Amino acid sequence: MKYPYLRPILPQPETWVPLLETSYSQRYFSNYGPLATRLEGRMTENYLIEGYSSTLVTSNTLGIQAVLNALEVYGRYVILPDFTFSGTLQAVIAAGGKPIVCDVLKETSELDPKSVEAALEKYDDVAAIMHVRCYGFVNDITPVKKISKAHGIPLVIDAAAALSKPSEQTFGSEYGEIEIFSLHATKVFAIGEGGLIAAPEQISERIRRSVNFGFQSDRTFHDGTNAKMDEFRAAIGFGTLDLIDGIVDNRQKHASLYLELFEGNDFVELFDMPELASWSCFPILVPESNREKCITVFADQGVEVKKYYWPSLSVGYQGRAKLEIMPVETSLLLQNSVMCLPIYSESPDDFWTGLSQAVRKSLQLLDSTR
Ligand SMILES: Cc1ncc(COP(=O)(O)O)c(C=O)c1O
Repeated sequence: MKYPYLRPILPQPETWVPLLETSYSQRYFSNYGPLATRLEGRMTENYLIEGYSSTLVTSNTLGIQAVLNALEVYGRYVILPDFTFSGTLQAVIAAGGKPIVCDVLKETSELDPKSVEAALEKYDDVAAIMHVRCYGFVNDITPVKKISKAHGIPLVIDAAAALSKPSEQTFGSEYGEIEIFSLHATKVFAIGEGGLIAAPEQISERIRRSVNFGFQSDRTFHDGTNAKMDEFRAAIGFGTLDLIDGIVDNRQKHASLYLELFEGNDFVELFDMPELASWSCFPILVPESNREKCITVFADQGVEVKKYYWPSLSVGYQGRAKLEIMPVETSLLLQNSVMCLPIYSESPDDFWTGLSQAVRKSLQLLDSTR
């Protein structure tokens, strides 16, 4: 495929291997060595509001699990959206939470506050509400924050793909929500496997313990896991920090091109694009009955597009945990009509014309077969 869905870039080894000198000279390779500690400081400075701090972890999924362990969700309910990746659910189950799957809004594909309220009416003992940021978009989620505050239930945000340019983003708010980001190779801030937890300082210590097997100072231990980021991943993280502005600039240019190409096309529906986005991908809505045809037509022109979050939790989960499932009509509609187009972190000069031609041709072909 000329334009595959994913074309990850990571910093070249020569840019980050020399950073490991101190780790080697101190023989300190994990358990928050010199580089991981420094990188946490930089991430806090760059991305978080005052009063929040960073914990680097080995993946977003383990980060969510550690946060839920710290919130002591074991044996209690956790609300989460149907329209999300498997990892969100698996983290809840691994932490011993009982999942309540809620619906999402069509405008954003994110948790529907009404569905959350209905779940809170129906179930007692909800230990956490989990919101998921879709497509790397950073939407205003004040209504969900307000519900969490009104009920005194912590809000955890799976913001897997949302980490972008530091100068354009700050996370954290007076509501005290906890956000977890993925630093996976396929994400915008990519290091290979990794994650970042952004949490209010008061709870950070508890989260750090649950990332380290739940050990307490007297060596007794709580529910926890091992999700500590090692020095090698932290070194790559510094390399990525140097590249991130250029990466996001390229992605913004890529998204603008799609906006131009889809403008006025009545076959494709666009989401309201928020001001802040990492542009991890470019989502569009097409008629449910035509999605398979669209995927084939784009593929014939060399553009790989992906169904997104398909299948959703209520449709795809085959494990043994019991899911409480609220009505999820909008999620069912979205998972059958959303397609995501690729967005790249870097593109050669001749790329833009070629991609424009491929997308234009696909739209013409789809129009002519209507
Ligand atoms: C919403 C969501 N949650 C979790 C994950 C998994 O992140 P990680 O691979 O860092 O565990 C993803 C990955 O795409 C995701 O989209």
